[in-house]
Amino acid sequence: MTGKSSFVVVANRLPVDEVSPGQWRRSPGGLVTALHPVLQAARGGWIGWPGSSGPAPAPFELDGMQLYPVPLSAEEIERYYEGFANSTLWPLYHDAVEPPLFRRAWWASYLRVNERFAQAAADLAAPGGVVWVQDYQLQLVPSILRELRPDLRIGFFLHIPFPPVELFMQLPRRVELLRGLLGADLVGFQRPLAAQNFLRLARHLLGLRPRGSVVEVDGRLVQAGAFPISIDTPAIEAVAASAEVQARAKEIRQELGDPKTLILGVDRLDYTKGIEHRLKAFRELLADGRLAVPETVMVQVATPSRERVEHYHELRVKVEREVGWINGDFGRVGLPAVHYLHQSYSLTELAALYRAADVMMVTPLRDGMNLVAKEYVAARVDHGGALVLSEFAGAAADLRQAYLVNPHDLDGLKEAVLNAAHASPAELSRRMRALRRQVRTHDVQHWARSFLAALGLDTRQPLSSGDSTGHEHGGGEPAAREHTA
Ligand code: ADP
Ligand code: F6P
Repeated sequence: MTGKSSFVVVANRLPVDEVSPGQWRRSPGGLVTALHPVLQAARGGWIGWPGSSGPAPAPFELDGMQLYPVPLSAEEIERYYEGFANSTLWPLYHDAVEPPLFRRAWWASYLRVNERFAQAAADLAAPGGVVWVQDYQLQLVPSILRELRPDLRIGFFLHIPFPPVELFMQLPRRVELLRGLLGADLVGFQRPLAAQNFLRLARHLLGLRPRGSVVEVDGRLVQAGAFPISIDTPAIEAVAASAEVQARAKEIRQELGDPKTLILGVDRLDYTKGIEHRLKAFRELLADGRLAVPETVMVQVATPSRERVEHYHELRVKVEREVGWINGDFGRVGLPAVHYLHQSYSLTELAALYRAADVMMVTPLRDGMNLVAKEYVAARVDHGGALVLSEFAGAAADLRQAYLVNPHDLDGLKEAVLNAAHASPAELSRRMRALRRQVRTHDVQHWARSFLAALGLDTRQPLSSGDSTGHEHGGGEPAAREHTA
């Protein structure tokens, strides 16, 4: 492939999965769904890691997207991805619910990989183009890219929480990380509080003077704002409404022994998701006699994730011990109390589970957004089901009619589950209709358009594929925003 792109996405992972050697399929995530039309219109490029170690395949095109694989060696996967990204930054940015680990060798690898991604973007972007960098793995890319290509308009979006100043200050490389982000023109967060944390940090650590949501750095203006991400609501609704999914949902309930109440959890197996708290609440409800098997059954889907990272390995052991404990005490022959599934599923199967569930438990201790909560709501085209949602998920600010809980308050969590399980159909429908209005009006397209408009890229206009950009620089002034910090 040749030519420059006026719109470039830089993310840790490419939006594709290798189904067989050399055969790629678009991955089902919301981010790629939202950006696909923009990428197609602009002959845009996506720079990312293909997911395995060693040399990367040559750039290739898929569904109108130009894909630029970035290689990672086995050592970089260990130090950059499993190390600095997922053992230092991930726990620290999630309230240090597990202690963050600091290793000097990991930093060198993080820096080197960020330089590689930035160089790839500098090579690909057309003069005056727009580059959108995604997430905590690539926080140094904005400043490195700005050095290489000062002509570009650079956006950065953080998908996970941004911690309060006191926590961020623990990072040995805090100045470099903050300066990395400040290389962008627009830094987007899930929630206004995260944008405020970032601006406070700029004042505290670098002595900068933010005005409202804007801060001046080296004679440039950097804007911070909240842009809550969402899901591809119409696509999930369509799958959930299909005859296939309705039939499968019915079948799932039958396979579970036609319980009166089916409680569901669907998460990556991650210590931020509060899976243990949820299982403990369920165990106590069974022990108290306030719920009973087989009238009530729980299904916990726990997607395998980051399995070589120690914290994740430990979590698996703890969760599986708890599941064994519950089933040992409360299961019957052929009728376990908890069905635990450490597997990945298709969207069709997930949608069927969502439609089958009476109570959906989403109980993270801290989560940037939590798309599962929004997917559950989108899937409930029948206006049934109840969502029990942690206050500490970014989604709680959008889904106000959920049964909101503090997952650390075990008694409160148990009450919320019972209230959800015993609510009248009218009450459930009232709540679900309100929740569904939110995800219908605020889908992932809305999110991407809002961010790109704030960055100065009007995605409603036809985008050119050459070196003109379709964005206005506006004399360095921050673009008008729908969301404010
Ligand atoms: P995170 O980004 O931390 O993984 P989210 O809840 O925001 O958490 O997003 C998780 C995504 O992964 C959702 O789109 C969800 O549908 C998907 N997912 C979760 N569990 C599974 C699974 N077992 N199989 C396939 N996809 C899953
Ligand atoms: O939500 C944060 C995030 O890193 C996403 O970007 C990613 O899709 C998900 O978690 C899974 O993480 P990983 O890419 O490490 O498997």
